[in-house]
This record gives sequence, C-alpha cells and structure tokens, in this order.
Amino acid sequence: MLKSVISVLSCLIVVSSTKLSCDFNVRLTQTLRNEGFHRNITYEIVFNADEDKPRRELLGCVVGLHQELPAGVFANPDELEELKQANKLFVVSQNVINIELPADQSNPSNLHIMGRVTDDQAHLWLPVHARYYQATSGGGMARNEIYPPRVHLYCPELLRCDGPTTPMIFTCEDEPKNCWNSYKELPYTVLTDTLIWEVPVGNTQYYYAVAGATALVVVAGSLYLLKSVHQYKRQ
Ligand SMILES: *[C@@H]1O[C@H](CO)[C@@H](O)[C@H](O)[C@H]1NC(C)=O
Repeated sequence: MLKSVISVLSCLIVVSSTKLSCDFNVRLTQTLRNEGFHRNITYEIVFNADEDKPRRELLGCVVGLHQELPAGVFANPDELEELKQANKLFVVSQNVINIELPADQSNPSNLHIMGRVTDDQAHLWLPVHARYYQATSGGGMARNEIYPPRVHLYCPELLRCDGPTTPMIFTCEDEPKNCWNSYKELPYTVLTDTLIWEVPVGNTQYYYAVAGATALVVVAGSLYLLKSVHQYKRQ
C-alpha cells in the first residue's frame, strides 16, 4: 500500500517537473488608431516583461491572436489577402465576410492574426472598418466594443508548456502549401481597456424633415414657374 502511494507520488512529481508552465509573463497593449470609418488595431505583446534580456527560449516562435470583431466592425478579406501577398501581415478569417452588409444584418467575426516573436516581443496589427447602421428615429451613436484577443504561441522546436491548444493555419516556409500547427494558449495581462468605437447612426426624423422640406421647395418652385409662364403668356 505504502509502496504504491510512494510510486504514485514520485510519478506525479516527475510529470509535474517535466511540464513547463505556459506563463511567460505576457503583457498586451491593444490600441485603436486613426479616426473615422477605417482604423488600425495594433497589438504590442511583450514576453518575460520583467526581465532585462530576452530569453532564447522564444527564438523562432510565432504568436497567434484570436480576435473576435463585433458585428459592426469587419476586416476586408481582399485587403488582408493583398497584405499577405506583400508579406506585411498574416491574418486568416474564420468566417465568410460580406463587406456590404450594414451592422444590423451582420454577425461577429473571428480572425487569427499571426506574427513572429523577436527579442521577446511581437508587434501585430489589423486594418478594420466600421459598418453602417440602419437609420433610426432619433439617430445618435452606435457603440462597437472590441475585446482583447486570446493569445497563443507556437514554437517549432522545444518548448512544451501546458496550455489548451488551438489549431491555427500558418504558412510553413519550406512548403508551398499552408499547414496547421497547434498553438498553446497563454495567460497574459492586458494593459489597456476594451476598445470602444462609436459610429454615427442616421436619424429617420431628419429624413422626414428633409423629405418634407424638399417636397415643399419643389411644389413652391413649380407654382412659381407656372405663375411665370402664365404671366408671360398674358403679355
Ligand atoms: C497600423 O499600425 C502599424 C503600427 O504602427 C503600422 O505598421 C501599419 O502600417 C498601420 N496600418 C495602417 C493601414 O495604417
């Protein structure tokens, strides 16, 4: 009995000592840049944040962010493809994105944004666009909230840490085809607030006021014209 307890215990100790925690003291700064309907989300990810020198263990690793965008915000697949071709950005959309639909008829979308870790840091970005909202009585502003992404890490060699895995697509350099890799989810600290993006909504009350005023002007103009024609005829 005692022997088996000891062997189970020693087994547990061996297992727990070979598993490396996926906690790399990650800090994330997420920012929404620019103004208007076309913006830029940037991500600054710092590993081993409290250390002076970068650790070699993350050499060659790739970060994969899983970003959900609300229905009112989208990334343009054509733009993403162009940036991918130009080797500027590697983003894969998990959904079919219709860039024409207004926010009210759209769904949230999920994107995987990938980039290399250099000197324990990764700087990623995503070009995003706001959808129009259907005009309402009263108009006002619609509020889009963009939450921080989930952060994953893939290292081609070594580094086995115990976090939940997510398969993500990443282009393997020596292969023409895309290939899937298992990314480990990392815990992190986010240094910024949820991104808030407010978009103006058309006001249907103005619509009726504008339509009414337009009709009045048209009627008045026509009457004036008729009157002029009539007067001209009489002369
Ligand atoms: C977004 O910001 C990043 C980092 O500043 C920059 O490299 C990139 O060119 C910007 N993209 C656009 C479309 O403004």
